[in-house]
This record gives sequence, C-alpha cells and structure tokens, in this order.
Amino acid sequence: MSVHSLRGFRDLLPPDSTRFAAIEAAAREVFALYGYQELRIPTIEMKELFVKSTGETTDIVEKEMYAFTDGGGREVAVRPEGTPGVVRAYIEQNLSQTGRNAKLFYIGNMFRAERPQAGRFREFEQIGAEHIGNAAPFADAETITMLVRLLEKAGLAACSVELNSLGCAECRKTYRQTLLDYLKQRAEMLCEPCRGRIERNPLRALDCKVDGPWLAEKAPKLTLCAACAEHFTRVQDLLKISGVPYNVNPNLVRGLDYYTRTVFEVRSSALGSQDAVCGGGRYDDLVKSMGGPAAPAIGWALGVDRLAMLLKDKPVADTSPAVFVVSAAAAAQDQAFRLLAAMRAGGVSADSSNFTLSLKSQMRSADKSGAAYALILGEDELKAGTVAIKPLKQAGDQQPVPFADAPSAITKLLEG
Ligand code: HAM
Repeated sequence: MSVHSLRGFRDLLPPDSTRFAAIEAAAREVFALYGYQELRIPTIEMKELFVKSTGETTDIVEKEMYAFTDGGGREVAVRPEGTPGVVRAYIEQNLSQTGRNAKLFYIGNMFRAERPQAGRFREFEQIGAEHIGNAAPFADAETITMLVRLLEKAGLAACSVELNSLGCAECRKTYRQTLLDYLKQRAEMLCEPCRGRIERNPLRALDCKVDGPWLAEKAPKLTLCAACAEHFTRVQDLLKISGVPYNVNPNLVRGLDYYTRTVFEVRSSALGSQDAVCGGGRYDDLVKSMGGPAAPAIGWALGVDRLAMLLKDKPVADTSPAVFVVSAAAAAQDQAFRLLAAMRAGGVSADSSNFTLSLKSQMRSADKSGAAYALILGEDELKAGTVAIKPLKQAGDQQPVPFADAPSAITKLLEG
C-alpha cells in the first residue's frame, strides 16, 4: 500500500505557503489597527456545540462534520468553523466581564467533509473576526470596513460587498409561516433534503444549492420590522461614510442558522462556482442561546485558500537565502560551518548543502538556492583568514574579505 494524502486535504509548498503567511501577516496588521486581539480556540470541541450553534438543519451539521466518539465515549467534532468555539470561550472565560471590548480574531484550519472541487477543500484555513457585545450599526460597519481593508492590504483590488438583512426573530416569525406554506404547496418541486427539512427550518431551502436560485426569484420575501429596517439603513449610511462599496442583495441568506439582521459576503467570479471569499453577519441571539449573557455580536470568516487563489499571479516575498556557503576543501569544512553561524548571527540568511560533496555539486546547489552570493572557503582562504565572495545573480569576479568582516561586507553588498 502506498501512503498518500486524503482527497480534499493538501500540502502547501512555496510559493503557496509563503502567500498564506503573507495574508496572515496582513491580517494581523489590520486587526491591530482595529483593536482586535487573538484568541486561539481548540480544534476539537463537543459535537453538541456545533449542533446547537451552527445549526441542526445546516449542511455543515447534517452531512459535513468530522464527528466521532473518542476513547472516553464522548461525542466530539473537529471544528467546521470558528464562531461556535469563540462563543463558547466568550462564555466559559467570562469575557463579558473583562471591561474591554470583546473583539477577537482567530487564524486556523477548519474541516468540512464536502465534495472537493476547485476552491473547496476538506481542510481549509479561515481568518475570522468576532465582535461580541455591541448591537449598534457602527459595529456592523466597522467589521465590514475592516474586512475590506484587510482584503486590500492582502492585495485584492476593488472588492464589493454583497449585503442583506435577515431581520430578527420577531420579523422572521410570520415570514417563517408564509414561506413554509409556500414551500409545502410546492413540495414536489423541492430536492430531497429540502423536502425533509422544510418543517424544521423552511429558511434553509433559500440557501439550498439546488432550489435556492429559483426560490430566490419566486418565493415570498421577508419584510423587516421597523427596528431592523432602521438598523439596516444605518449600516448602509455608515458604509458610505467608510467609502466601502456594497450591493444590497435580497437573495443573500447564508448557510448557517445563527444569523440575525446584517449578513454579507465578498465574492469573486474569478473563483468559479465556489465564489465566496468571505462571509459573515450578525448573530445577536447566539451567545444567550448557548447559555451566556445577552450579548449581540457580529463577525466574519475569510477563506484563505480562496484568497490565495485570487492572488496567485501576484509576486510573493523571496524566501531564498542571501548567501550560500561552500567548502572547497576538506580542511575548510569546520571553518565553513563557523561561517554559516557567523552570517546568521550577523543577521544574514545563509544556507549550504553538504560540505563533504564536490565543489561542483555545492556550486550547483548554490545556483539553485536563489542566493545572491556564494561564500567560498578553500585552502587559500583558510591560510589567509579570508572568505571569497562570488556573485551568483550577476557577472563578477570572486572577491576576498577577511573572515570576520564577511557579514558586514554582505550586508553592504545587499543594501547597495
Ligand atoms: P462560511 O461562509 O461557512 O462562514 O465560511 C467562510 C468562508 O470560508 C467562505 O466564504 C469560504 O471562503 C471559506 N470556506 C468555507 N468552506 C470552505 C471549503 N470547504 N474550502 C475552502 N474554503 C471554504 C463561517 O464559517 C462563519 N463562521 C463566518 C462568521 C463568523 N459568521 C459570523 N462570524
């Protein structure tokens, strides 16, 4: 049997891994500007956490969770998304009592047993932000603005936000019944899973990949109550103040159960059918329903794999070493080893291959490494207490420098 990776799980090598790191670094910078702090949540939680928060009738919980019974007989699940863990931590760690804003971000891998396709993986990375404890439309506008600034900082030009309001539990009460009646009358037109769950959650049909599109056209629309309508108008006014382009999309429903009021997505047609780069929204009732204080909240999660796909033609930072150390004689090997340490101690990135290989083989590795200079140590250099600097990316002769001066000489050359 040959060992291979599982479908939907992948290895990330440079330049992809470098691109992921650059996106994460951009995110950290933007989070600091907006007063967000990092929260690291566990990868595995009680299965019940996701069933109760992500929602029993969602695709994620119904068929995509990696859930299992652990050695101790506990029902656990590998996190399919970050929001439930953040909410659990907010409650468990009493984060409402700290006297400071609960503005939390996380960066981590999520797991969903979806059918893999372009832009859809079973293990993927999310960068997420959650602002808990602020009901005002300012929080919505700030969160969405931060997302757009982050995407810009990462290198994504001109993104527009799809925006909608799903109203509150009150506005949805009557709508739920209206929609249920409409769906029941057309039950034979619905796909199997939708038919099975309309009684439990008729709204889910609007987000169904099969029935969603025609229902979005034909099904009755939600009417917002006065307070939700006012909130939605304010969010739009504030987005205009922030200079964030958006498009009100009454068909945006999102695939998770906890949303109330504002929902949003950033999409890109360049991604094909899996076009959402980021999704989020308000979840004003979730913290309380999970046993915590009444704490309205809003957040989003960004799919790093998809953002990296959109940025694939942008150059990434060069991860090549600055210098490549080569030992040209058996007697020079220890000095070459010393030189590697001296370069690194002097802040110059340095690499080597195997000092016991031939000079030709080491020089070939030096060329392949992408280093700007080879530092060569042979019998002559050993005797003279020098190092030979040879440019690798441009023409030029070898130049000797005293061993102790090598780090500063290289730094000067790299700056010059
Ligand atoms: P979500 O829409 O399920 O929301 O996921 C957010 C983003 O994660 C998507 O827009 C997409 O870019 C990425 N994503 C999701 N599934 C996959 C996959 N199988 N492969 C690659 N990328 C994927 C949430 O997860 C919510 N927790 C967002 C949120 C936070 N709402 C409020 N706070």
